[in-house]
Formats: sequence, structure tokens, C-alpha cells
Amino acid sequence: MSASLAVNLGGIAMKNPLNTASGTFGYGWQFEGFYDVSCLGAITTKGCAAEPWAGNDQPRMADVYGGMINSVGLQNPGVRGLVAQCGEYLAGLRAEGCQVICQVAGHSVEEYVAAVELFEELAPFASGLEINISCPNIACGGIAMGSTPEGAAEVIRAVRPRTSRPLLVKMAPARVPEIAKALEAEGADALTLINSIPGMAIDVHTRRSKLSKPTGGLSGPLCHPIAVRMVWEAAQAVSIPVCGVGGVRSGEDVAEFILAGATAVSIGSQNLYEPDCAPRILAELEAWVDEQGVDDVNDLRGALEC
Ligand SMILES: Cc1cc2nc3c(=O)[nH]c(=O)nc-3n(C[C@H](O)[C@H](O)[C@H](O)COP(=O)(O)O)c2cc1C
Repeated sequence: MSASLAVNLGGIAMKNPLNTASGTFGYGWQFEGFYDVSCLGAITTKGCAAEPWAGNDQPRMADVYGGMINSVGLQNPGVRGLVAQCGEYLAGLRAEGCQVICQVAGHSVEEYVAAVELFEELAPFASGLEINISCPNIACGGIAMGSTPEGAAEVIRAVRPRTSRPLLVKMAPARVPEIAKALEAEGADALTLINSIPGMAIDVHTRRSKLSKPTGGLSGPLCHPIAVRMVWEAAQAVSIPVCGVGGVRSGEDVAEFILAGATAVSIGSQNLYEPDCAPRILAELEAWVDEQGVDDVNDLRGALEC
């Protein structure tokens, strides 16, 4: 008999640890042509604000050594638009046993609160809300608020009383132990890390940025060892569960995050390179758990031996 892969991410019961990283998986339906998305433990939708955002100018994405760099800037249709366009699909996905985590974006504390209130009112399909305080590609809000313990705590203190659903926080790759502790103290149910790493890519012939902005967010395989280290640091610092994100390409990469202390693990940029990667990665994860000779994937969480 195969081992149990079921995990609980801060009150979100997932049939297996696999999630998708916000912004790399649209709203889920875009991937239905490649495989049955309901095989995943959860999906996390693209960051969404109370009102629609246009995002940054093109070009927004460029290949770099070891991954990609993007400055999409959280383009989104607003909560009402998301519900109108995808609400029925997302409710159906949840009914099929795949949890739906809706990511929340804002430029200010007030905008985060407004978006959470709209999700509460209009999105019964949301299994949980993930507050994005780590986007490197917006002028205010995002990483500007999430890169100090005080700024991060202020956002969560404001939104926590507005929802009784599981509340996740997407963290930036900075000051991880102290910010993780501040978020736990404000009542976050789980932490997701890492968001993309601020970086630059320059076309030396034109002397221009390869993006429409000077800087963007680095993602992909190059981020993986950094993300594993940061998940390990967070898991040491807090007792709430952690979802690991960064450079996952295989079941072994997922296993590394679990051994470092992650409860769930998200596939990000790999969805763009290999849109049907999730069933392969899930099968590789199952094989690893069986190979380890345990009945339950939870027995492997934090089982790193040094
Ligand atoms: C095109 C693109 C769009 C992204 N949009 C978001 C987003 O809306 N919200 C967010 O928290 N992270 C966003 N991210 C970051 C990913 O969720 C993830 O944290 C990061 O890419 C690291 O994982 P990876 O190396 O597996 O891609 C985006 C990444 C990419 C490549």
C-alpha cells in the first residue's frame, strides 16, 4: 500500500503536499488542457487586489542564467473580476478535492483590507487567503511592506480580524526568522516562502534593461538552494506550517523542502517551462516517500540529518 501524502497547511487539509506558486499557474483552468488539475493538493491563484491592476509595461519577462526574471507587476482583474471569470471553475475544483488558495495584493494596508473583505463576501470557494507582502515589482505595497518585521506585522494585524479562513503570508527572501516570528505573533496560520529574488538583467548592446523596469524578480532553479535554506530557517523559527517555493523541477526538489521542514511545496516557474510537470513531480514524490519506508509523508517533515 502507498504511503499517505495528506498534509494540513495551517487549517487547509490537502490530499498531497503539492501546491502551485502564485502567478505561475493563472487561475488553474489554463492548465486543464495539460492534465486534471484536481490531482494537486492545492492551487494558489495569481495575486488579486480589490480593484483591477494593469501591471507593468512590456517587456515583463526575460530568460537569465539558471531561471527567468519578471516584472509582471501583479496584473489582475480585481476580486469581482476574478470571481466573475473563474468563480465557477474554482468552486468545482474545490469540490473535486483540490484546495483553492486565493492570493491577496495591495498597495497599502487599506487596500489589503478591502481585498480581504471582498474575498470574504464574494469567494466562498476560497479555502484560504494568502497575503502577498513580498512582490518585488510594485512601487508601493508588496516587498516594501514585507521586508521589515514591523511592516509585515502591520498588514497582518489589519487583515487578521477580517477573515476566519486560514491566513497564509507570502514572504520575501529577507530577514526570514525575525519576520516569520512577527507574522506568527499576529496570527498568521502558515507562511509561504520564497517570493522571487530582486535581480537585474541588462542587454549590453542596447544598454537597456531586458525588462521595462530596471529590476525584476528572479525565479527558477537558481533560487532553489536559497529557498531551501530560508524554509529551513523559517521552520526552525516558528511552529506554524511553511509552504516551500523556489526552483522546484522534480520530486527530489519537493523532498528537499520537506526534509528542511516544509509541510507543502509549490511548483512555480517550472509550470511555464513544462506545463504538464505536476503529475510527473507528484509521482516522483510518491516514489521517494515509499523509498524512505514510511507510511506517512508527515514523518519526513524536518527529518534533515546533519
Ligand atoms: C511570471 C511570474 C509571475 C509571478 N507572480 C506572482 C504573484 O502574483 N504573486 C506572488 O506571490 N508571486 C509571484 N511570482 C513568484 C512565484 O510565486 C514564486 O514565489 C517564485 O517564482 C519562486 O518560485 P519558482 O522558482 O519555482 O518560480 C511570480 C513568478 C513568476 C515567474
